[in-house]
Amino acid sequence: MKISSKLEEAVNRQINAEFYSAYLYLGMASRCTETNLKGIAHWFYVQSQEEMTHAVKFYRFLLDRGGRPVMPAVEGVRTDWKDPLEMFQAAYEHEQKVTAMINGIADIALAERDHATASMLNWFVDEQVEEEANASEIAEKLKLIGASRDGLFMLDKELSARVFVDRTQPSAGAQA
Ligand code: FEO
Repeated sequence: MKISSKLEEAVNRQINAEFYSAYLYLGMASRCTETNLKGIAHWFYVQSQEEMTHAVKFYRFLLDRGGRPVMPAVEGVRTDWKDPLEMFQAAYEHEQKVTAMINGIADIALAERDHATASMLNWFVDEQVEEEANASEIAEKLKLIGASRDGLFMLDKELSARVFVDRTQPSAGAQA
């Protein structure tokens, strides 16, 4: 069944939002690199890679359902962040907006009784719980760390251990 034009538009907006997310986190990674926080920079770099896999999952789904990806320009992002706390707070706010967008598409899919789109979106609904939790937990840790340079050094080391896994692939669960 071909996807409806309403869902096609919504999925196109989501593809753009996922690429925007990738761009946003890449900008945060560059800011962390500038300030010598290489571990946090790595965490954001991996996050950016994950966002690109999200964009491609939506893109492939749209093609599979006879839709047309329209690939509009990706908006520019801020890169002059003050410190990691400001970045993770912004990341948490951003992920909440992404969750709202995904819920919005799910509402359309349910109203249209488009079960294939609803099923594909379930993966993202679950993923967003983790996306929000990750950003929020790190922001809370940074609040506890406050002005402690040792604390920031430890967190930088901890976040340097993040490994990129393409969770959109069915085999990813076994590796994660
Ligand atoms: Fe693709 Fe961070 O949501």
